[in-house]
Amino acid sequence: MQQIQVGVSLVGSGSARLPVFLSNEELGQVVDTSDEWIQTRTGIQQRGLLQAHGSLSDLAATAGQSALEMAAVGATEVDLIILATSTPDDLFGSAAQVQAQLGATRAVAFDLTAACSGFVFALVTAAQYMRNGVYKTVLVIGADALSRWTDWTDRRTCVLFGDGAGAVVLKASDRDRLLGFEMHSDGALNGCLNLRYQADSDPLVEGKTVQKGTYQPITMNGKEVYRFAVKRVPEVIEKALFRADLTPADIQWLVLHQANQRILDAVADRLKVPSERVVSNMARYGNTSAASIPLALDEAVRDHRIQPGDIVASAGFGAGLTWGAAIFEWG
Ligand code: UT7
Repeated sequence: MQQIQVGVSLVGSGSARLPVFLSNEELGQVVDTSDEWIQTRTGIQQRGLLQAHGSLSDLAATAGQSALEMAAVGATEVDLIILATSTPDDLFGSAAQVQAQLGATRAVAFDLTAACSGFVFALVTAAQYMRNGVYKTVLVIGADALSRWTDWTDRRTCVLFGDGAGAVVLKASDRDRLLGFEMHSDGALNGCLNLRYQADSDPLVEGKTVQKGTYQPITMNGKEVYRFAVKRVPEVIEKALFRADLTPADIQWLVLHQANQRILDAVADRLKVPSERVVSNMARYGNTSAASIPLALDEAVRDHRIQPGDIVASAGFGAGLTWGAAIFEWG
């Protein structure tokens, strides 16, 4: 009788890089800011911008395709695609378009929205379908184009965000290499970071109305989110490590959501992870929301820093508020 494989292995990564970047100096033409302020407070030097002809699904499909190639997995082998995004091309979801673009004709595809925690939440969600033996080959993509929803007159937020996409391929395996995870949300803190739908009342028939409105640009209480991140992120990583029967000393690579270099430094400091073990690429991409973890992971895998067998601690945090960590062995 054939043994069902219910372990999860991360066997490939990929990313999509945009051809157009906006430097801090160029941002200084848009709002009252400076390269010095942005670099000192955030570590960001430039961010990618999706241009008018680009689409989120193109970006996600490019990242997915490069992950499939690294994993040497054909598109028709994929059983499930989860697209973590808060900025779909279509409010009904963009994952099915990505599926079509990839030619993953056997797969079922859906979107998952958890802002900057989206990639970790999608990875953990995908693992559940694999651990129960239903799906064997899964593509998890994190893709966002927050530039679509940024208030380009608000210097407190517009300097932070950039567009991008990253992806990983998961394969069923005998040994489970997703070693531990932990996820949280707290809607009581929702007001700290929003991209809210705002509607007026539109009369339809006598005494009955419908809503007519649109999503409003991102608003953020930066200081609150900063405080939340430096407290909750080390905590959630420690909990996930505990579930993996590991300690912070076992972390070989820290791959965090790329929100702010100061947050990365504070979390690494708390966990006593040396700075050369912290993957950081926000200087070049800004905060790409659900894309930031797989983008950073892919870069470190492709330049051979992260090797098969390495223990990676990843953590996402952001709107919701949501936060979560996943500890895995790469490869
Ligand atoms: O992925 C979602 C998760 N989001 C985050 O993780 C964001 C977390 N928060 C942060 O990263 C930081 O709070 C920010 C980078 C957003 C802001 O840094 P900060 O050190 O908290 O600055 P602040 O908001 O306290 O502002 C300090 C000063 C203010 O001036 P005054 O009032 O002291 O005179 C701001 O008006 O800096 C001013 N300021 C700016 N100056 C130049 C704020 N934004 C800018 C700017 N350029 N872009």
